[in-house]
Amino acid sequence: MAAGKTRLVAVANEKGGVGKTAMVINLGAALSNMGKKVLVIDMDPQHNATAGLGVAVNDDMTTVYNLISEPGEHDPSDAIVQTAWEKIHVLPSHPDLSGAEVEFVDEDGRENRLKEAVSGISGQYDFVLVDTPPSLSLLTINVFAMASEVLVPCQTHPYAYKALDSLFDTIGAVQEEINPDLDILAIVATFFDRRTRVGRDILERLQSDSRYKNYLLPIPVRVNTAVAASSDAGIPVVFSAKSSNGAQDYTAVAEALFGKNGGKKKPKGR
Ligand SMILES: Nc1ncnc2c1ncn2[C@@H]1O[C@H](COP(=O)(O)OP(=O)(O)OP(=O)(O)O)[C@@H](O)[C@H]1O
Ligand SMILES: [Mg+2]
Repeated sequence: MAAGKTRLVAVANEKGGVGKTAMVINLGAALSNMGKKVLVIDMDPQHNATAGLGVAVNDDMTTVYNLISEPGEHDPSDAIVQTAWEKIHVLPSHPDLSGAEVEFVDEDGRENRLKEAVSGISGQYDFVLVDTPPSLSLLTINVFAMASEVLVPCQTHPYAYKALDSLFDTIGAVQEEINPDLDILAIVATFFDRRTRVGRDILERLQSDSRYKNYLLPIPVRVNTAVAASSDAGIPVVFSAKSSNGAQDYTAVAEALFGKNGGKKKPKGR
């Protein structure tokens, strides 16, 4: 059992390739190093978070797809997989998840399928970290309906910066219509390379933009090839290359957000 209240954290950005999955698996790893018990829920049909934690998906498994497309028919604990690391469990995704929303888009309570599926198990963890697909779909809305905090990775690139606007609108609409308890936890700049003008420029814009600056965590995750190599190998970089910039940055982000002296970045005047 988790010692305190479970934190339900969605990692989201409608923009693709901004570092959502790397954030989920490496924050999971860093939190487990801090003694926390973590459930990673993979809500992306690409199932990169599942693979990035070394779990291979096959058609015989019960996955999050079964839980949300056939509600009440599966015990969620049958779907949860123990990874190679004791304190990290994963609720795997499956490619069929991409068709799931079509299956229940017209049904009542369609936004709450994930919330209902995991309500009986999430309390067993200190943290539930949810990876989301790079689109605004019913899958992402299901994640926002069950989460209480959203962590936003933002690649230090102009397109990612511009896409934040629409993400914040989406979160605002979800807060109004579906989940008033949803808060934005923080924005974390990713793929940061101080040698490039564009990287420095976008970081400066995030630091000065009144919409975002109070949410911005002052710890960018630097671009680091070890991160990509570790995702490919199915081992979070926090475990596979402890002294790499990637491992250090994700650990620092986890400490800043969730450590003893960490806390929620409460924006002033919003
Ligand atoms: N800090 C980093 N430095 C270098 N490579 C990174 C870093 N973070 C992530 N990557 C790599 O970049 C690619 C995209 O990252 P990731 O899969 O985490 O993004 P994503 O937002 O989840 O993408 P998608 O929207 O497709 O789900 C992956 O190959 C990943 O391993
Ligand atoms: Mg991803």
